[in-house]
Amino acid sequence: AMPSVDDAKVMAARKSLEFVKPGMVVGLGSGSTATHFIRLLGEQVQAGLKVRGIASSQASEELAVSLGIPVIDFRTATEIDVAIDGADEVGPELALIKGGGGALLREKIVASAAKQFVIVADGSKVVKHLGRFPLPVEVIQLAEPLVRHRLETLGLKPSRRKAKDGSDYITDEGNFILDCACGEMNDPGKIAAEIRAIVGVVEHGLFLHMATRALIADGSGVRELLP
Ligand code: A5P
Repeated sequence: AMPSVDDAKVMAARKSLEFVKPGMVVGLGSGSTATHFIRLLGEQVQAGLKVRGIASSQASEELAVSLGIPVIDFRTATEIDVAIDGADEVGPELALIKGGGGALLREKIVASAAKQFVIVADGSKVVKHLGRFPLPVEVIQLAEPLVRHRLETLGLKPSRRKAKDGSDYITDEGNFILDCACGEMNDPGKIAAEIRAIVGVVEHGLFLHMATRALIADGSGVRELLP
């Protein structure tokens, strides 16, 4: 049988274990592919691998703790050796859209502090141009209407993310998310700078010049993309 998307995610996650060495501090991503990675890392830890994790979301932290992976706190963290995380889109030069799971702020903090940032994904995530996936923008609750208007004047189409029960989605850090339909992005760096310049924006889901490698699984194997 053809491998399913979930099989592909597991394959990419398994390959990423090669970048985890004893003694490392490992950034633990969020989302379904990163969850596979954390489970596989948990097996290695149970088999004796000595690493410490730093989690990019409460969900990932709880999972890591439940598997016996020692987790360090942001208050004591200084350096991260490698961070492993999924992505919603992987574009040219390993430009990414992330934040579909809502954890973009902590994910970006962890990724930016990591010496290596390895993306794990199935082949459906690879795109020629970013922008099919709506760009998540995390905003301070108070500023949301003003920021939304500014994003609209940039030509984006923001809509406030809702939780499954229909209430406003609130991030781990207590903010709203505006999912912004952008259309095909020819210059993600320009869009990132324009969004960043709006006061009240906490962070956005464009991860540019950050990923050091992407492990993409489809069909029968895992291919490695470099920036
Ligand atoms: C979480 O906030 C996102 O950035 C995830 O990395 C992204 O949504 C990928 O998730 P999957 O691995 O579930 O596709």
